[in-house]
Amino acid sequence: MSSRSTGSVLLVFLWSLTVVLVQGNWDVTYSTQSICVLKGSTVELSCTYKYPSGHKVTSTFWFTTKYTDGNPVNLSDDPDYRGRVTYRSDEKNRHTLIITDLRESDSAEYKFSFITDQTGGQWIGQPGVTLSVTGLQVEVIGGQKRTLTCRTTCPLTGNPTYIWYKNGESGEENSTPQYYNQIFREYEVSWGYQDSYTCSVKGHEDLHSPTVCVEGQYCSRVTYTQRRICVLKGSSVDITCTYVGGSNVTSPLWFSTKQSGWWRDKLFPEDLTTDPGYAGRVEFPDQESTRYRGPFTLRITDLREEDSDEYRFTYATNLFLRGYGLPGTTLTVT
Ligand SMILES: *[C@@H]1O[C@H](CO)[C@@H](O)[C@H](O)[C@H]1NC(C)=O
Ligand SMILES: *[C@@H]1O[C@H](CO)[C@@H](O)[C@H](O)[C@H]1NC(C)=O
Repeated sequence: MSSRSTGSVLLVFLWSLTVVLVQGNWDVTYSTQSICVLKGSTVELSCTYKYPSGHKVTSTFWFTTKYTDGNPVNLSDDPDYRGRVTYRSDEKNRHTLIITDLRESDSAEYKFSFITDQTGGQWIGQPGVTLSVTGLQVEVIGGQKRTLTCRTTCPLTGNPTYIWYKNGESGEENSTPQYYNQIFREYEVSWGYQDSYTCSVKGHEDLHSPTVCVEGQYCSRVTYTQRRICVLKGSSVDITCTYVGGSNVTSPLWFSTKQSGWWRDKLFPEDLTTDPGYAGRVEFPDQESTRYRGPFTLRITDLREEDSDEYRFTYATNLFLRGYGLPGTTLTVT
């Protein structure tokens, strides 16, 4: 290499160094600017950050709009997020905020900040990431031909696939949130029942919209008394639901969703009483007294950790309709 070209390489090097110094090298870059996710799901917000050489980062955190004594409140110290926030920094100069069991009230702008060992060494990444949390809601519009829409309050991030459930049984999958339902009024009247609908999004099948009736208030559906139950190993639990609808329940049956992945190739899911894992531990205390509408109770005694699962109720009615109560009750045994 000639001395002349060495000189110009050095010059270019010095010039680029100058540009960096003039710009200042404090920065936070977020992996996304805004994100819309489902209530109950988990979100990860990531960023990379840089700071001048000579500084050493002593503290990193995320915050939203809360301040105490002029200082932003560390999200991991915020009681509204207790037990739901985790920080991860497994790569150098990269930081991730994880929030689980999202609530609609978590919708906010999230900012990352870091503090260094030098005086005045604090930087906040502005603007932050806008997080919007939405539930699912079935909206019914139209006359003879109904359109059902699986509504969210923000456009879900990633191209979601919507799943529709008619009377709790999964059916149509769609990349648009619409579902068309042709209603034959005469048919309904003569059979005396109406269908109920729920929607969810692929990958989040446990997060359903509330169940709606396309017409009237009395379509077939099941409501569980509790959505989640947490109990101690060795104790017993009652999982209860009631039926609403125009007909009578004739074959009540409880099943665990651990086994339910495969039930499509059979006619019905497997009755919990026939599962050897539950032998002698399953009771139906009120089966005799309340046969038609419930409450229907599933009692599991001498609980084991492997009983942790989502339990669902399914039924037939005297009008030959089979329905599933969705989502079921999630049991956690600890
Ligand atoms: C924020 O919380 C994290 C995790 O608890 C902690 O490592 C960090 O030092 C805290 N930062 C501030 C400024 O409180
Ligand atoms: C449900 O059962 C009750 C009691 O047997 C009966 O009176 C009623 O007519 C039944 N309802 C329907 C829709 O079959």
